[in-house]
Amino acid sequence: MENIRNFSIIAHIDHGKSTLADRLIQTCGAIEDRKMSEQVMDTMDIEKERGITIKAQSVRLRYKAKDGKEYILNLIDTPGHVDFSYEVSRSLASSEGALLVVDASQGVEAQTIANVYIALENDLELIPVINKIDLPAAEPDRVKEDIENTIGLDCTDAIEVSAKTGIGIEELLEAIVERIPAPKGDPKAPTKALIYDSWFDSYLGALALVRVFDGEIKKGQEVLVMGTGKQHEVLDLMYPHPLSPQKTDAIKTGEIGIVVMGLKNIGDVQVGDTITDAKNPTAEPIEGFEEAKPFVFAGLYPIDTDRFEDLREALDKLKLNDAAITYEPETSAALGFGFRVGFLGLLHMEVVKERLEREFGLELIATAPTVTYRVKKTDGMEIAIQNPSELPPPQEIDTIYEPYVKATIITPTEFLGNVLNLLSEKRGVQQKMDYITEDRVMLEYEIPMNEIVMDFYDKLKTVTKGYASFDYEPSGYKEGDLVKLDIRVSGEVVDALSIIVPRDKAQYKGRELVKKMKELVPRQLFEVAIQASIGNKIIARETVSAMRKNVTAKCYGGDITRKRKLLEKQKAGKKRMKAIGKVQLPQEAFLSVLKID
Ligand code: GTP
Repeated sequence: MENIRNFSIIAHIDHGKSTLADRLIQTCGAIEDRKMSEQVMDTMDIEKERGITIKAQSVRLRYKAKDGKEYILNLIDTPGHVDFSYEVSRSLASSEGALLVVDASQGVEAQTIANVYIALENDLELIPVINKIDLPAAEPDRVKEDIENTIGLDCTDAIEVSAKTGIGIEELLEAIVERIPAPKGDPKAPTKALIYDSWFDSYLGALALVRVFDGEIKKGQEVLVMGTGKQHEVLDLMYPHPLSPQKTDAIKTGEIGIVVMGLKNIGDVQVGDTITDAKNPTAEPIEGFEEAKPFVFAGLYPIDTDRFEDLREALDKLKLNDAAITYEPETSAALGFGFRVGFLGLLHMEVVKERLEREFGLELIATAPTVTYRVKKTDGMEIAIQNPSELPPPQEIDTIYEPYVKATIITPTEFLGNVLNLLSEKRGVQQKMDYITEDRVMLEYEIPMNEIVMDFYDKLKTVTKGYASFDYEPSGYKEGDLVKLDIRVSGEVVDALSIIVPRDKAQYKGRELVKKMKELVPRQLFEVAIQASIGNKIIARETVSAMRKNVTAKCYGGDITRKRKLLEKQKAGKKRMKAIGKVQLPQEAFLSVLKID
């Protein structure tokens, strides 16, 4: 056990975690240089395309240190985006140390701080790593000062590296061996292992990546997954490796490894759960297990109404390898049969929608995302609402409660004014404001989650030219003065377009929304009225005027191939349209609420 080092890499998005992980793997010779593809650690297609890490990945490395001994280094990569912070905390709970990677040309960001808090809660040894020192804009000394001021972490022994060119990597490996403590645990005690990641493999089924704290897991052992109460036989065990995991007969105290139990459902091996021996179980599971809860909900509807069952099947399959999504069938007068799907955040929503479309060949319309509201009714009942159209009529509502988050924002001082304006526009309430350095400020705000869900992050990036960073965690429910805003197309309420808004902003939002819709709704053969209403009261109206003549026929009358091409193009364009009564609405119209202030 004394030659094992378990560590994570934590960093703000894009500060170079995955690149550093790749470089460590390469330096330890775990992958031949020629097999080192662009980025080994980000394996999913969507991850490669977007350059982000979604699933935490781990790898077991061997390193011969200067003291002549060989060490096992278990490297645990963690996801950097706020939506996946739950996975970060489980990864950190499995480590004794963490490399705190900060971009030498950027400095500490909100996500860095959030991760450091989680690391400190887990008593981890932190090694500050200043990355990207090869960049001309690198200012390692300023960044060290930044870390000392914000986090209070001594940076005298910070390691300066370039994950890209390899500078400082040897020094970093030595620091890992010297500074990060070896794991502790009782090899003789009953098996106690934390599932800190799980995923679905099409050949092996649902896999659990575990850290063994006490005892060991052996091939053939009958184990109990404590949260589910289910018993399974261990069919196989492997040490994690991004390209070729290596089989083993046992995962011992202090080690990490992959457990194969032939499971069909990822829900059987949820992140945070404890695996123990079925006959001789440990007394208490590892604490802190909470199922990942979705915060953001949206309707997903197949454009082709006949494909509802296909969508159900696709969701069933996706759920097997993404336990965080929830879904329930729902009906919309406008969109027909679909599902209300719960996500961890907006990025997760985008990824899920993209996977459904790409991997299952579906074409979907997504409605505007919303949070869970709690409504106390006049009859004393309390209900939870994840779809604005479910809001009871005003006379039946006593109080509406909406979820809030505690947001941390770091911005250069030159944009402070912009950020404060944006936060007050979004109904934020200031808790704290600290100058980290002369030119950077850290803000803490309570802010309604619904405002964050809409497009806060994009707006924040816009008003700070991309320089501000942002992180949040849920902080409970508060009473809100809220109303339902409906949109009517040709006089009919389109339920899928309803949103819940603060009463004092309803008028403004209604006006902006119909204006935006007017831009997005293509002209039809007849005039289309677009109205915003609260209850029966119309508060805004725009008109999409009728098309004058048949443009297609005239322009392309002669050339048959061009005409065919145009028709094909139109067909492709139409895929994203949904008929609401006689009116064709494009996908963008359903998300137009995201585009208004
Ligand atoms: P997520 O996985 O999305 O959280 O990001 P990450 O922190 O893993 O960042 P990633 O490794 O994807 O690196 C982000 C960008 O920085 C990429 O374009 C890298 O090529 C670049 N990068 C990483 N390390 C270095 C470095 O040492 N020097 C330079 N010049 N660029 C680097």
